[in-house]
Amino acid sequence: MSDTASTLATVKNRVFSGAQPSGNMHLGNYLGAFRNWVRLQDTYECIYCVVDMHAITVWQDPAELTAQTREAAAAYIAAGVDPKNSILFNQSRVPGHAELSWIFNCVSRLGWLNRMTQFKDKAGKNREKVSTGLYIYPNLMAADILLYKATHVPVGEDQKQHLELTRDIAQKFNHDFGVELFPLTEPIIMGEGARVMSLRDGTKKMSKSDPSDASRINLNDDTDTLARKIRKAKTDAELLPAKADMLEGRAEAQNLVGIYAALTDISRDQVCADFEGKGFGDFKKALTDVVVSKLAPITEEMKRLQADPSYIDSVLKDGGERAQMIAAPILADVKKAVGFLS
Ligand code: TYM
Repeated sequence: MSDTASTLATVKNRVFSGAQPSGNMHLGNYLGAFRNWVRLQDTYECIYCVVDMHAITVWQDPAELTAQTREAAAAYIAAGVDPKNSILFNQSRVPGHAELSWIFNCVSRLGWLNRMTQFKDKAGKNREKVSTGLYIYPNLMAADILLYKATHVPVGEDQKQHLELTRDIAQKFNHDFGVELFPLTEPIIMGEGARVMSLRDGTKKMSKSDPSDASRINLNDDTDTLARKIRKAKTDAELLPAKADMLEGRAEAQNLVGIYAALTDISRDQVCADFEGKGFGDFKKALTDVVVSKLAPITEEMKRLQADPSYIDSVLKDGGERAQMIAAPILADVKKAVGFLS
């Protein structure tokens, strides 16, 4: 168990996290999220959700959404999420997510949403044309977490601002309605893999929505594809230095060293010390070996699971029922606090 996990084990915790089934799951999802979800599940009550309602904030072909929802669930399980121990379900099965998010739409402030950098990035110049769902998405994310009174949320660094908003919403709800209903949820942002960058541009995060497939390592890439993507990853002509802080200003080099460190659970300094004076040709070969040895078993297991969609569907159904049991009494308390008659 990591230090963070053992420290947190002393308090009563419930973990909630999720990922969007809006494209290929990639190395950033694995290192920033899934791997940490797996590490937390022995110590905490964990709820892991495939957030299909978030995915439709941008257009999703319905048949593909169904397939990608199953693929995401397969990725969670293949990465090590144990659906017997943790709860694994898809968001739209539990109606409380939509119900609570409406209440939060009325608690959250326009000014708060206007500050969300992810909306600005995703909407870009197209602001007037994006769905209103994309804009209020952070309120739904707060509802996901607080519907279960989750105390901890393991995520990559890009979700930090959304979790700050979740705390603001919890605090304002408690204050406005004079209750102590919602906890102030803590983010868990762990280790070297919290921010994995694009293989084509070390200043952009690795993302499902990047139009270039060569920018990311997908969890369903075969070994040859992985090797080719790493070989072609952008780098520079300089050698690896003795220490990680000497990589300053070399975004792509920093990223590859960070990926190696995260996958082998050693520090960036140690990676630099091990490869000092070597060029990226040699380093990329070693990185390929590490990526393949860690990801190939996951890719294989995903394939095996996806060949049995009825198994995945039964896991999600069972998870949805267990999630609903936790959510129902919390949502009833929320509605009572708001003054809804039932
Ligand atoms: P999503 O689907 O973009 O990503 C899922 C998880 O993967 C992490 N991640 C990364 N970590 C490191 N480097 C990267 N390049 C990288 N890309 C993605 C994300 O930080 C995330 O942890 N809004 C969320 C989904 C969500 C959620 C929630 C998360 C909805 N409700 C409630 C936690 C709790 C999202 O779009 O993640």
